[in-house]
Amino acid sequence: MHDDWLQRWDKGNIGFHRAEVHPALRQHWQPRGGSVLVPLCGKSLDLRWLAERGHTVVGVELAERAIRDFFAEQQLTFDRRDGELPAYVARDLPLTIHHGDYFALRVPRCDAVYDRAALVALPPTLRRAYAAHTDALLGAGPFRLVITLEYDQTLVPGPPFSVPAAEVRDYWPDLEPIGSREAHDDVPPKFRAAGVTLVEAVWRSRPSP
Ligand SMILES: C[S@@+](CC[C@H](N)C(=O)[O-])C[C@H]1O[C@@H](n2cnc3c(N)ncnc32)[C@H](O)[C@@H]1O
Repeated sequence: MHDDWLQRWDKGNIGFHRAEVHPALRQHWQPRGGSVLVPLCGKSLDLRWLAERGHTVVGVELAERAIRDFFAEQQLTFDRRDGELPAYVARDLPLTIHHGDYFALRVPRCDAVYDRAALVALPPTLRRAYAAHTDALLGAGPFRLVITLEYDQTLVPGPPFSVPAAEVRDYWPDLEPIGSREAHDDVPPKFRAAGVTLVEAVWRSRPSP
């Protein structure tokens, strides 16, 4: 699985990457300040948006190519620090991207998590462990924004995988669905070829009483 992702990055086969900040992030993100975990972050522009909003951003990504592309394309300079997972630390923004397997990431607990196309990037066999590892990296009462995909998994194989609502609720009962829409712009060709519709669903922490 890891090799598949590295090959995708090497070949530029990264249809999941968006040229703009995700609209659901702009619309539904609530916290101001504090640290935000961004698992399986790719070279998403959302990292920068969060850092410019005043968060300390902690990304993690398997493909070094993605991390280097992020800093080059964003014209940000960085320092590379050795560690269990090497860290690319931006000089002018509160943003660090760790290079390596998410499951090996150990960092101080974060206040919030932003998951766009991370849970859905993983096969069913890894997703419960992903949810548990994510919980272990978060402090008490974290804010979560999670963007998933749903489609008929019998028609097309992942990734991205379909993650049904019941599975999301099972991992994180504190989440509520706040919107869904048919995915258009970043749909992989295999879905178009099979005539399969993907629905993007947005989940967010319920406001505390
Ligand atoms: C579907 S992409 C989503 C990227 C990003 N969240 C975005 O919105 O553009 C999934 C990313 O996760 C990375 N990845 C897959 N498995 C990983 C793992 N175990 N640890 C860290 N990164 C991983 C891949 O290299 C890929 O960049």
